Amino acid sequence: MRVTFAEILTSAADRAGFPPPGSPEIAFLGRSNVGKSSLLNRLVNRKQLARTSGTPGKTRLIHFYRVERGAAELRLVDLPGYGYAKVSKSERQRWQRLIEDYLGDRPTLRAAVLLQDVRRDISEDETLLVEWLAERDIPTVLALTKVDKLKPMRRAQRVRALRLAANLPAHRVIATSAEKGIGVPDLWTALDETLHPSSG
Ligand code: GTP
Ligand code: MG
Repeated sequence: MRVTFAEILTSAADRAGFPPPGSPEIAFLGRSNVGKSSLLNRLVNRKQLARTSGTPGKTRLIHFYRVERGAAELRLVDLPGYGYAKVSKSERQRWQRLIEDYLGDRPTLRAAVLLQDVRRDISEDETLLVEWLAERDIPTVLALTKVDKLKPMRRAQRVRALRLAANLPAHRVIATSAEKGIGVPDLWTALDETLHPSSG
């Protein structure tokens, strides 16, 4: 089903800024610069809805987007990236609190997209996040990003290796490129399956 409308709902620096819970939410999580905002834009077919940048640490707030797909409404939630070495300790702690305030206490959070650069190995940050989400019964899809950066043979090798390394069902690990639009229908299919498990 195609996205028929998308708009920014609000941007929040802290819990008080979160919009009241409404339609189902899908959170985008991952290391700084991994491609969260770019993939979100691809999913909604809008080049510039979410701000992207070559400078890591661009997204400092939680951005809530309202999306319509035919009659269905949902929200995509772009979270600030973690693991950016150049931010101060206090900034990192602020990030952690913001993310935990959101992920830990959001009744309408229905799925998470965890993004992982296809060229990197899964680190402890991702492993802990996958466990943390599983403990809270939040279905997680792992989006391997920037696959356009690898030639087909190497790409296939990396996707296989990361599927094995991720503690997730194989169909929840999806090769994507926001640059080329690769994997976008597959990602929607996986998300639909998590949002409507009975029909999937
Ligand atoms: P933060 O908000 O800082 O956490 O970053 P982010 O995860 O939102 O990353 P963003 O979407 O801003 O992309 C970071 C950089 O990676 C930008 O220069 C993008 O153009 C580039 N990028 C994102 N996706 C892709 C992709 O699929 N292929 C390629 N080649 N580059 C990409
Ligand atoms: Mg971003």
